[in-house]
Amino acid sequence: MALLHCFLLLLLPFSLATLNPCSSPSTTGDITLLHINSRCSPLISSHTTPFDSLLQLTRRNDPARLSFLASLSTSSVPIASGQHIVDTAIYLLRASIGSPPQSLYLALDSAADASFLSTSNFSSSSTFQPLPCSSSLCSLFTPLPCSSPSSLCTYNQSYGGDSSFSAALAQDTLHLAGDTIPAFTFGAVTSATAGPSFPKQGLLALGRGPASLLSQTTSLYHSVFSYCLPSYNSYYFSGSLRLGPLRQPARIRSTPLLFNPHRPSLYYVNLTSVSVGRVRVITPPNSFAFDPNTGAGTVVDSGTVITRFVATAYTAIRDEFRRQVNATNGYESLGAFDTCFSTATNDGIVTAPPAVTLHLDGLDLVLPAENSLIHSSGRPLACLALAAAPANVNAVVNVIASYQQQNHRVLVDVPGARVGFARELCS
Ligand SMILES: *[C@@H]1O[C@H](CO)[C@@H](O)[C@H](O)[C@H]1NC(C)=O
Ligand SMILES: *[C@@H]1O[C@H](CO)[C@@H](O)[C@H](O)[C@H]1NC(C)=O
Ligand SMILES: *[C@@H]1O[C@H](CO)[C@@H](O)[C@H](O)[C@H]1NC(C)=O
Ligand SMILES: *[C@@H]1O[C@H](CO)[C@@H](O)[C@H](O)[C@H]1NC(C)=O
Repeated sequence: MALLHCFLLLLLPFSLATLNPCSSPSTTGDITLLHINSRCSPLISSHTTPFDSLLQLTRRNDPARLSFLASLSTSSVPIASGQHIVDTAIYLLRASIGSPPQSLYLALDSAADASFLSTSNFSSSSTFQPLPCSSSLCSLFTPLPCSSPSSLCTYNQSYGGDSSFSAALAQDTLHLAGDTIPAFTFGAVTSATAGPSFPKQGLLALGRGPASLLSQTTSLYHSVFSYCLPSYNSYYFSGSLRLGPLRQPARIRSTPLLFNPHRPSLYYVNLTSVSVGRVRVITPPNSFAFDPNTGAGTVVDSGTVITRFVATAYTAIRDEFRRQVNATNGYESLGAFDTCFSTATNDGIVTAPPAVTLHLDGLDLVLPAENSLIHSSGRPLACLALAAAPANVNAVVNVIASYQQQNHRVLVDVPGARVGFARELCS
């Protein structure tokens, strides 16, 4: 039954292609990004309201995601291995692989370096080439034992806490929007135990490590990309991914992009403080400090759902928010959110809750209300959409996550060493 369901959902975007706005082909060269719960998504995981889905996704995704981000340290070098808990998918894009091209929905992951793809038909592609153990990229993937240098480079990887797969390192021609990328290296999935969060057709890795899409396409995309993440509050929207320096916003406010050798795949920025309303919150010293030795600091990540701060900093920010909202009936917790309050007008609540501002070096990111609060669809209730990093993750890492980035163009310019943010209604 569940299988049939998935199958029908997979067919739906194709059969409705002419009617369906979110599957219409891009005419600009941008790659359409779908939220996994978008009505066009082949991975749709629930038919609940955006609020309930956000609660579920935050609970299911974020603790594993933060463990994953924390685990990406040079002391545990492998970019893919049986030991790793990897994240779960939130955004999907269309790509195709091989000759003739086979169309796939891939999860986008800006923190991963190892792409993997799954089709039943690699062998029918005339450009498909499995790689031997002697290939230079093989050692990055923690291969299963190789009987000889010429034997195939294979590896096992776990994913999202509920899935695992076996793959053979391989190359084939990747097609993204109008671009052709010959000899793209990825894991060709040979078998998988797939849980609900597993991106069944694959994942495109946009981290900055040596095996990622960016590192493989420096002459084409020059390590520059931008994305606009669609709103979480409707399933009818899509966003975009734009690869390469062309057509990027010419003037965009930006903050320095930092490289942290302790976690070389991630995009670090310099968060200096956080304001709630007009109050600059006093957080313990070094809450946000960048440290190349420990990996501490703040990363921009599209695979985490809500922004996380180290616990003591989060508590200070939340307390200031509560002080200003001054909710008559107090606060309740729902899932990961510990600051939910009634917005019923007869509760005498301040009509506009205070804005949250992230002060980045050279750039103040004032979060619009839709990016700092989540509203229940069932009752007059709003929650502050921020949280502490899970207690069991000693990551010392703060994460600016996708809910806070929605409807913004986020530009990552590695050679220019900057991350730009601009409000954009991408949906
Ligand atoms: C996969 O490739 C094989 C061999 O070329 C072909 O017989 C089969 O129809 C293909 N299957 C799909 C789903 O395209
Ligand atoms: C790798 O995964 C396959 C199943 O996909 C399993 O049979 C094999 O034992 C695994 N190998 C290791 C070393 O974990
Ligand atoms: C909070 O609300 C109470 C009444 O419910 C009021 O007495 C108090 O002055 C308010 N505090 C602030 C800081 O607005
Ligand atoms: C972060 O920004 C602050 C304030 O501009 C600056 O003093 C500090 O040196 C910056 N840290 C890094 C690692 O760039």
